[in-house]
Amino acid sequence: MVVFRVNGKEQRVDVSPDTPLLWVLREKLGLAGSKFGCGEGLCGACTVLVDGHPLRSCVTPVGEVRGKKIITIEGIPEKHPVKKCWLAQEVSQCSYCQPGQIMSAVALLRNKPKPTDADIDSAMSGNLCRCGTYGRIRRAIHAAGAGASMKGGKKS
Ligand code: FES
Ligand code: FES
Repeated sequence: MVVFRVNGKEQRVDVSPDTPLLWVLREKLGLAGSKFGCGEGLCGACTVLVDGHPLRSCVTPVGEVRGKKIITIEGIPEKHPVKKCWLAQEVSQCSYCQPGQIMSAVALLRNKPKPTDADIDSAMSGNLCRCGTYGRIRRAIHAAGAGASMKGGKKS
C-alpha cells in the first residue's frame, strides 16, 4: 500500500512501489490529464508537481512519492493565472503536451514570478511540443507573471 496526497486528497493505492506514478494517476485514480508521451522522462507530457517541484511521472516509481503532496493538471483551478493566460493566448493546438507545459509553468512562476525569456527557456526546455507552440507559451507565462490575462495576442 502506498499513501500520498493528490490534489489535496489522501490516496491509498494497492500497487507495487515500482509502478510508475503516471500509471497510478491515470489508471487507478482516474486522473487522465497527465499524458504519456515518451515514457522515458524526455518529453514532459507527464509532468506533475511533487512537493512543489516538477517531476516526470512516467519515470517516477510511486514508492518514491510515499507521503508526498502531488498536484496534477486537475488540481490547478480554472481561474489560476496560468490557465487563464493559456486560454487568452490561445496556446494549445492538439493539446497533448499542454498539461505538462502548464505544470512546468506553474512551478516556474512560483519560484520566479517575473521570469526572463532565458528563465522561461531554461525551465521549459524539457517540455516538448510537436505543434510548435513555444512562442505562445512564452507569452502566456509572461502574461501570467504580470498578473494579466491578456486577450488575443499574435499567433506563432
Ligand atoms: S511521457 Fe514522461 S517525459 Fe515523456
Ligand atoms: S500542442 Fe500539440 S504537441 Fe503541443
